[in-house]
Amino acid sequence: MTPPPQRPGKQINLMRGWPAHSLLPAEALRAAAQKALSDPAVYQPGLEYGPDQGYQPLREALARWLSAFYSGAGGADTSSGSDGNGNGKYSHAPDADRIVITGGASQSLACLLQSFTDPALTRRVWMLAPCYFLACPIFADAGFAGRMRAVPEDAEGVDLGFLERELRAVDAEAEAEKDGERKGFKDPGPYRKIYRHVIYCVPSFANPSGKTMSLARREGLVKLAREFDALVICDDVYDQLQWPVASPDDAAPTTTDEFPARLTKALLPRLIDIDLFLGPSPHDPSPSSPAHSFGHVVSNGSFSKLSGPGVRTGWTESSAALARGASQTGSTRSGGAPSQLAATVLAELLSSGALDAHVARTLRPAYRRRHALLLAAVREHLAGPLGARVSEAVRVPSPSVSGGDLLVYGGYFLWISLPEGGGAPPARAVAERCLAEENLVVGAGPRFEVHGDEAAVRFERGLRLCFAWEDEAALVEGVERLARVIRRMMDEGAGTGVPDPGAGVGDVGQLK
Ligand SMILES: Cc1ncc(COP(=O)(O)O)c(C=O)c1O
Repeated sequence: MTPPPQRPGKQINLMRGWPAHSLLPAEALRAAAQKALSDPAVYQPGLEYGPDQGYQPLREALARWLSAFYSGAGGADTSSGSDGNGNGKYSHAPDADRIVITGGASQSLACLLQSFTDPALTRRVWMLAPCYFLACPIFADAGFAGRMRAVPEDAEGVDLGFLERELRAVDAEAEAEKDGERKGFKDPGPYRKIYRHVIYCVPSFANPSGKTMSLARREGLVKLAREFDALVICDDVYDQLQWPVASPDDAAPTTTDEFPARLTKALLPRLIDIDLFLGPSPHDPSPSSPAHSFGHVVSNGSFSKLSGPGVRTGWTESSAALARGASQTGSTRSGGAPSQLAATVLAELLSSGALDAHVARTLRPAYRRRHALLLAAVREHLAGPLGARVSEAVRVPSPSVSGGDLLVYGGYFLWISLPEGGGAPPARAVAERCLAEENLVVGAGPRFEVHGDEAAVRFERGLRLCFAWEDEAALVEGVERLARVIRRMMDEGAGTGVPDPGAGVGDVGQLK
């Protein structure tokens, strides 16, 4: 019998999806805030109610910044777009009319559902699984409890065949029940429309899977949305956090100036860029009128992962018609865009180049190094000896890189899949024992199953590990603790144990 383990004193939290305190740009924010609050032309509007679509200088700065980052994305250098189609095809000139300032991606998701869905008329919410688990209660609050459906993925991303079949089946059933004759709860008025379906996804460096959807799947998903009158809500919150994969022995570069130039641009076009390229949709209420050309995608962006979640500020980019409609959400009209004061500070941070400098000199090098250390520890302690699989980098064919392909990773998370056979225990039981025996918090796969449709796509063997919160040494030690627990459980024959389905790890507040 193994003696009861000594629980280590210091907790290591590999579940928490927050930026480490050492990575917060406090000094740059202080300078930006001081500047904003010293100029009446800035602080007066900043401290008053703002316009519905948000602080205009931030809208304009974001429009330029986003256009510069996404223009030329998915070019001939990118594996998923190897036909070269993406090269410039999906680029768009800056247009502040397409941007709305929000209170961050979570608040914005709630507002989008208030404005563009009606639980009486919107048939289903389709969520790529595993999903960002905190989106589920936002959909439930909007009236979609019990109508969220899990959509499986493969290595390239969304399973388009599955989604198309299921959309068709749901539509056929709804039409047989004559749901078109049903009266909605809401009157969308002239600036909004009610979509039949919602599709929710994180196309790049996803939370929790770390996956990046290929260009072909992005194009296919937009096509399906346009056919089935769906609004695709993309949480594009990690796109800027990308780096060439390093080995743990690589000296961390002090700036991303050493990164290949390819990585100054987004790896792939966003789904909104593809939808804008395709122009008016047959489902638009009056397709010939730009004022009613809503399109089918909204990009939901956030400053949370760039300048710190406490700023509670984000943006959406969409068609100008959808942007106008989004800004007409009731709570926005009463008081103007949220985060009005923060928006003045962030406009300064963006326009001065300080945000770009922070991303290039602090975030990308730090996350690159942390990712390399965590990955190496996972390979050494979990993949090799236990047969676990780990989320893979995106392969970008790059003639400029010696040795061929450039491997790119990004975001905050590694996703681990424990083997099905061989006696490896289920993830929920592992997470419980990690906390009890090793003072280690990890995210167990079932937490990321789609609420109400868990059985459709299960993640009983999945684990999410975040490399943004803990410091480098703790990342490595965390994986060692995790491997110890799994080995101990395997020695005990716990692999066949059935976990208590009601048990979770910690409260959601400490995890996010
Ligand atoms: C996919 C995804 N969407 C939204 C959020 C939350 O964004 P915000 O802080 O802007 O509300 C997160 C944070 O972890 C996330 O990972």
